[in-house]
Amino acid sequence: MTTKSLENQAQWWRKSTVYQVYPRSFNDTTGSGIGDIRGLTEKLDYLQDLGIDIVWLQPVYNSPQNDNGYDVSDYRSIDPMYGTMDDFDELMDELRKRDMHLMLDIVVNHSSTEHEWFQQSRLSKDNPYRDYYIWRDPAPGGGVPNNWQSKFGGSAWQYDEATGQYFLALFDKTQADLNWENKQVRKEAADLMRFWADKGVDGFRMDVINLISKDQNFPDDDGSIMTGDGRRYYTDGPKVHEYIKELYEQVYGPYDLVTVGEMSSTTMQHCIRYSNPEEREFSMTFNFHHLKVDYPQGKKWELMPYDFEALKGLLSSWQVGMNEGGGWNALFWNNHDQPRALSRFADDGQCRVASAKMLATTLHGLQGTPYVFQGEEIGMPNPNWNDISEFRDIESTNMYRIMMEMGKTESEAFDIISKRSRDNARTPMQWNYGGQAGFTDGTPWIKVDERYPEINVKMQREDPSSVFHHYRNLIALRKTEPVLIDGRYVRLDEAHPQVFAYARINDTDTLLVLSNFSSEKAVFTLPEDYQSVDQGKLELVSGNSDQPPVWGKQITLDAYGSFMWIIRG
Ligand code: GLC
Repeated sequence: MTTKSLENQAQWWRKSTVYQVYPRSFNDTTGSGIGDIRGLTEKLDYLQDLGIDIVWLQPVYNSPQNDNGYDVSDYRSIDPMYGTMDDFDELMDELRKRDMHLMLDIVVNHSSTEHEWFQQSRLSKDNPYRDYYIWRDPAPGGGVPNNWQSKFGGSAWQYDEATGQYFLALFDKTQADLNWENKQVRKEAADLMRFWADKGVDGFRMDVINLISKDQNFPDDDGSIMTGDGRRYYTDGPKVHEYIKELYEQVYGPYDLVTVGEMSSTTMQHCIRYSNPEEREFSMTFNFHHLKVDYPQGKKWELMPYDFEALKGLLSSWQVGMNEGGGWNALFWNNHDQPRALSRFADDGQCRVASAKMLATTLHGLQGTPYVFQGEEIGMPNPNWNDISEFRDIESTNMYRIMMEMGKTESEAFDIISKRSRDNARTPMQWNYGGQAGFTDGTPWIKVDERYPEINVKMQREDPSSVFHHYRNLIALRKTEPVLIDGRYVRLDEAHPQVFAYARINDTDTLLVLSNFSSEKAVFTLPEDYQSVDQGKLELVSGNSDQPPVWGKQITLDAYGSFMWIIRG
């Protein structure tokens, strides 16, 4: 590839905002209660109006759906539940007409145990597909080969009677980890991506891709560093960069794709390597450190109020570090695996609208490519949960059972699941005031939140002061204000208990963001150079109140008040 095309590739998506579609819950056109591909096509005008130019579509391949499609049984198909290949082609055509791009979700750390490869693999030890997966003998005294734990609870090893060996499954027991040591597996992964690239997709979101290279000694984890569940032996593993570089040379580079790697429990050093264009790996990376600031000692299934200082510290250090290392961040508050940030970090009740806008301004002022998860742009909070039977997610139902086994009461376990479940993000998109929020004419696969009459797309598109219009404005700003792309990040608050303040500075402009993360008024003392700014050069470009604070030595922000200014020249 020429240097020029490398540069081009490195540029266009840096001004983009990506919209994440969880198809199951987006828009159902058949009355099945499950969203479908045509449902997405039907809403492209909506996404275009929002200013979106890249859509990330989550897995729609054939799958037994034990993990809602992240358990793929055929990588080159469309699950009938979501429609047909013709529907997919139509989606591509309609995206093209609107100059929009598609990013597909690729899940190749593991496949479903119903995949043909696995079906073959389990038949016998000398089957040609045996080595596609990670099979190990029982430990010398019997039992699992080591003490690694599944991310969804329990041992990461599953015993298979037929051949008397265990296979590795880091997620659900039906998601068998693929053996990337095997060259043939790597070739299959590249081939299946080429299949979709040949169909015209513009990029990929690579599911838990930093887990593909396991320490081949498979040691027991003594818990002396990290969580003790084995992740130190397969996270950002020994050959991960080598394997990703191979994918780049074979697929991402030649097809000029935009790629984002989902990086579980990663480090900044690795993310710089994954996303610095010179390394020829990915365009950008997701990391989750800022979304663990309410996990006591890293424990997801225990509750605590979030640590505001840690949140600011993490976002800031990734802003500075990735920039210095030439990496590129994917920016996000929400996705399909996280409870809604609005309910975690701000107020999803009385101050819901101000809070949703505050979080948006704070994130969209940062350096990186922002991602909006469906419903975030209308300020959807965690739904109201009334009973454990309302949950659908395999991780949540497993953890509920495990918590009860470990002695939690029903109500304690329910409380934790209600706050932490991935289903918080997965309830249907709220389109209008109609039955089931306009999502389906049938019975939705998961409940619709009761608050849809007050929180829906229809209402907000008609209201210029809505959360929707706030997002629309921020997304448009990224296209017109270079400082949002190249501005150097500087944190401005010194451990202020309520306010997050930062600047982005390039050769001509300075962008300033002040956000009050609390329900009380906050007073913030501007650093001196900002106090004396010529007010003629000051432009308020985003805010969540029609009464912006008066500029002065001290700025007073109302509850969840948040503003973005650009100081010109
Ligand atoms: C990723 C996906 C998640 C899935 C897991 C296993 O973290 O985002 O939804 O359960 O990988 O594929």
